[in-house]
Amino acid sequence: MDNQKVHIFDTTLRDGEQSAGVSFTLNQKIKIAQQLEKLNVDIIEAGFPRTSPGDLEAVQEISRLVRGCTICGLARCIKGDIEAAWEALKEAADPRIHIFINTSDIQMKNQLNKTREQVLEQAVESVKLAKSFTSNVEFSPMDATRTDTEFLYRIIEAAIKHGATTINVPDSVGYAIPSEHGLMFKNIMEKVPNAGKAIFSVHAHNDLGLSSANALAAVENGVRQIEAAINGIGERAGNTALEEVVMALKTRGSQLNVHTDINTKEIYRTSKLIEQISGMPVQWNKAIVGKNSFRHGSGIHQDGILKMRETWEIIDPADIGIPQGTQIVMGKLSGSHAFTEHVKKLGYNLTDEQLKSAFKDFKILADKKKNIDDRDIEAIIAERTGEVFSPMWHLDHIHVASGTHAIATATIKMKNKNKKSFIDAATGDGPIDAICVAVNRIAGVDPSLTGFSVQNVTEGIDSQGTVFIRIKDSNGHLYSGQAADTNVIVASAKAYINAVNRMLIVNEKNALTAKKEKK
Ligand code: KIV
Ligand code: ZN
Repeated sequence: MDNQKVHIFDTTLRDGEQSAGVSFTLNQKIKIAQQLEKLNVDIIEAGFPRTSPGDLEAVQEISRLVRGCTICGLARCIKGDIEAAWEALKEAADPRIHIFINTSDIQMKNQLNKTREQVLEQAVESVKLAKSFTSNVEFSPMDATRTDTEFLYRIIEAAIKHGATTINVPDSVGYAIPSEHGLMFKNIMEKVPNAGKAIFSVHAHNDLGLSSANALAAVENGVRQIEAAINGIGERAGNTALEEVVMALKTRGSQLNVHTDINTKEIYRTSKLIEQISGMPVQWNKAIVGKNSFRHGSGIHQDGILKMRETWEIIDPADIGIPQGTQIVMGKLSGSHAFTEHVKKLGYNLTDEQLKSAFKDFKILADKKKNIDDRDIEAIIAERTGEVFSPMWHLDHIHVASGTHAIATATIKMKNKNKKSFIDAATGDGPIDAICVAVNRIAGVDPSLTGFSVQNVTEGIDSQGTVFIRIKDSNGHLYSGQAADTNVIVASAKAYINAVNRMLIVNEKNALTAKKEKK
């Protein structure tokens, strides 16, 4: 049999955005979709258009801008959802409508209050409606792994009969184990008479930490689409991590006689982008993209690696685009031209203004830190790549006093986009609280801080610390910010201002839209 292709369906923008505490702005969604196109995923699930005008607009924009992938929109088996999905997708080069309905008895009875027959009829009507808009229709019987098997076969058969071209069989609650999951797909393909007319897809949640294993077991049993999210983000414990299954298929694909078309050299950059934008730091020992994935602690391993990399590494870090991070790349004498060239070499595309301010930060860092490597440069760039806009506020000056007996006080000077300076001071429960209060006063905002974490960028006492911050506005909308500095107090202030800038830009845009709608 020929080596077959496994399609990669990325759901970072849909299921990924359902991660508790994660919310992407329109510009961030576009940036992510463009990066996913570089990664060469086959399908981008860009959102769930019926859920909000913002989601509809994002799917619409992505459909217009990203022409190299199939763009998919999610919809319940409800007329209004399917129409909204089509409205958002109709300009896409290859639009796909993905419809779903609960099929397990527990969910049909307790959530939908419907019988099996009613659900079956609703699914059929919805497939027909979606099919009237596009030939590319995906159907998901939700909570499939807890669905009565005979009913599962019936509903899948009906969906294919009425035009579904992809059948996604989700393990919505992350309940399956690999042997059973593989067998479920094998049985479906044997028992559903028209199974050969559709591509089968796996959508595994990670509640038991088995999502990648379950996805691979599905592929072993004939599944040719994997639904996954970058860094494994998604509902509860997340989705299958795209980088894990793709690298498993690249490393062990000959065993399964399959391949993907993913440009693996973009994996690391995509992971970093999602980490920055989602504000969810990747755990150090995360497979493929964790900080420790290619670091060797034991002397015996280091000895082996120095003699021959393959003795202890099954993947070449260069294959996933990890920059040769430990090299000293630039120093305090490097000029702006060399800096610009280096940033380009790392694959970033910054505006002149972003480059200018990144170079300024690089020079400040070079004065404080002896060895600067690519990780430092990436940390500086990260602040600027998460969002495409001109910030409303900049940090100009900060002074913080705190200690065991002192009342934490922050004095902050900030400039607005017209370069006008404002200064204020505040006390707080600790230095971060004092900073937030002072920034709030200057910017005239009052969000609450819902997430705060710090990670070192490199090793050593002079390392920069990257601060990830998450804030919530009075409507419950979340915004994230990040910044790096050798002084984590300064990084915290910058990260907070970064998040506030995002909040202000979204508010400004919403106000404009509301004004237009009123007219
Ligand atoms: O987990 C799930 O069942 C889903 C569906 C919408 C496919 O995300
Ligand atoms: Zn899901």
